[in-house]
Amino acid sequence: MGVMKLVLLVLLSVLCTTSAEDAYRFFTWNVSYGDIYPLGVKQQGILINGQFPGPRIESVTNENLIISVFNSLDEPFLLSWDGVQQRRNSWQDGVYGTNCPIPPGQNFTYILQVKDQIGSFFYFPSLAFHKAAGGYGGITVLSRSVIPVPFPPPAADFTILVGDWFKKNHTDLKAILDGGSDLPFPDGLVINGRGSNGFTYTVDQGKTYRFRISNVGVATSINFRFQGHKMLLVEVEGTHTLQNTYDSFDLHLGQSCSVLVTADQPAFDYSIIFSTRFTSQVLSATSTLHYSNSAGSFSGPLPGGPTEIEWSLNQARSIRQNLTASGPRPNPQGSYHYGMVNATRTIRLASSAPIINGKQRYAVNSVSFIPADTPLKLADYYNIPGVFTLGSMPDNPTGSGGYLQTAVMAANFRSYFEVVFENPEDTVQSWHVDGHILFIVGMDGGQWSPASRLSYNLRDGISRCTVQVYPRSWTALFMPLDNVGMWNIRSENWARQYLGQQFYLRVYSPANSWRDELPIPKNALLCGRAAGRRTRPFHK
Ligand SMILES: *[C@@H]1O[C@H](CO)[C@@H](O)[C@H](O)[C@H]1NC(C)=O
Ligand SMILES: *[C@@H]1O[C@H](CO)[C@@H](O)[C@H](O)[C@H]1NC(C)=O
Ligand SMILES: *[C@@H]1O[C@H](CO)[C@@H](O)[C@H](O)[C@H]1NC(C)=O
Ligand SMILES: *[C@@H]1O[C@H](CO)[C@@H](O)[C@H](O)[C@H]1NC(C)=O
Ligand SMILES: *[C@@H]1O[C@H](CO)[C@@H](O)[C@H](O)[C@H]1NC(C)=O
Repeated sequence: MGVMKLVLLVLLSVLCTTSAEDAYRFFTWNVSYGDIYPLGVKQQGILINGQFPGPRIESVTNENLIISVFNSLDEPFLLSWDGVQQRRNSWQDGVYGTNCPIPPGQNFTYILQVKDQIGSFFYFPSLAFHKAAGGYGGITVLSRSVIPVPFPPPAADFTILVGDWFKKNHTDLKAILDGGSDLPFPDGLVINGRGSNGFTYTVDQGKTYRFRISNVGVATSINFRFQGHKMLLVEVEGTHTLQNTYDSFDLHLGQSCSVLVTADQPAFDYSIIFSTRFTSQVLSATSTLHYSNSAGSFSGPLPGGPTEIEWSLNQARSIRQNLTASGPRPNPQGSYHYGMVNATRTIRLASSAPIINGKQRYAVNSVSFIPADTPLKLADYYNIPGVFTLGSMPDNPTGSGGYLQTAVMAANFRSYFEVVFENPEDTVQSWHVDGHILFIVGMDGGQWSPASRLSYNLRDGISRCTVQVYPRSWTALFMPLDNVGMWNIRSENWARQYLGQQFYLRVYSPANSWRDELPIPKNALLCGRAAGRRTRPFHK
């Protein structure tokens, strides 16, 4: 009996951290500084196992990823997983609102599961301004072999991590922001850790290739295009799209997509062009699409990028789900009718850029987020008062100037949000929600009003985790609150995020059950006012 009980307990504890039937992948990562030369000048970059970008995580739907991270930097460090859903498990989200930083010289093991997911994502360092120093890498989640994929297997599957880059290092950039100023304009674009002409993709004539592209930058939207070739869009952030053909494609901060490119042109070397979008000065960088039987460089002109907002808005509206294609599950993506559920709450989130105490800040509904001395998730779990106030994030714009607050919005598990991002500013914005899928129902210029609902796409709007809001425009989405935890909602413009344009959403279930939320991990790091507590699982 005693032995049975022990076996049961061990089994339970395994079942509750990860799902027993799914495969495991183990990673051991050493995070350190090292010399990199992305724009030709030597800089200290953040490397993972000596690499920049870090190793690509290749996985299959439902696999468990056990990632041991050793922090060999001289400052605290955390990794976050952009777009990995973290079902029931905000404990592993790797942002300061949920996790204590890994102290210098110490390690932490993330236990993630890519539950019910497919697609292209990336990981990145979430603290301080580390993201501007690298430390990021691609995440690929392939479909299980039994699930049909709506296109033939590509001849190869390439990951391209592209982003703006500064010659100033991340500590100098952070000091500029801490001093109350805006960042300068970036110095260039970096593709997979290298500058222009640093990367060559070799293709065989007649074959089709998948390119998974993520915008890992900190400041600018990007447009990309293949000289002489069309792109077939097949996926954005885990959803199979209607397979439309594009000459060029916009990718906003934090977004990921997959395009298929067929090497169906005369055998030459072609340019793949990346350029900044919605910037007065345009930065660009190229990689090479090299035919294995190439006769040399193709001598045609380089295709230019778009310039109109209307063009981008129309392209955004054309990105829709393929309702009949399978996603991570055998049933088609369209079997969940997001447009037939009535919203239980409408949240309007307006951005602003107030000056507070003489310093540049960024805000949402006038609240400019300031971190607390303790991760919010831990304060919540241990009932530590005075760290944050539930409900301190207003549901609507307040019209007032701006104030500092550790803002947490309270929400109930299984509620259904209509969220409207409102952008009265002149810059394009990009918003990310951790732990949730967003069904994009509409975007347009001007001010949102209830009448805007008449234009919503309630049938095949794309679902993704990061969405852009055009200048002086709005973007609306539906969001099922199906994941208990403490979740970060943030600008993907990293200066804005750092200076307060973010908050947390606490999705709460009174059941307090392991079916809704996993218990605190036994290896959880404890800090701030949670230091010294115990991480034993709770009992119900
Ligand atoms: C991590 O890398 C640094 C720098 O290369 C090295 O000094 C250190 O020993 C490594 N640590 C581990 C745990 O591998
Ligand atoms: C740190 O690494 C050691 C050695 O691999 C391991 O025993 C320990 O559990 C790790 N600590 C955490 C918090 O993951
Ligand atoms: C949608 O997915 C189906 C099922 O895989 C596929 O046959 C069809 O070609 C796709 N249609 C478009 C427009 O992407
Ligand atoms: C960043 O550059 C400054 C000099 O501009 C230097 O003092 C600092 O140590 C550098 N930081 C890192 C992490 O390399
Ligand atoms: C949504 O609300 C409408 C109008 O109140 C109602 O007729 C409809 O039945 C509701 N739908 C669902 C799925 O609850």
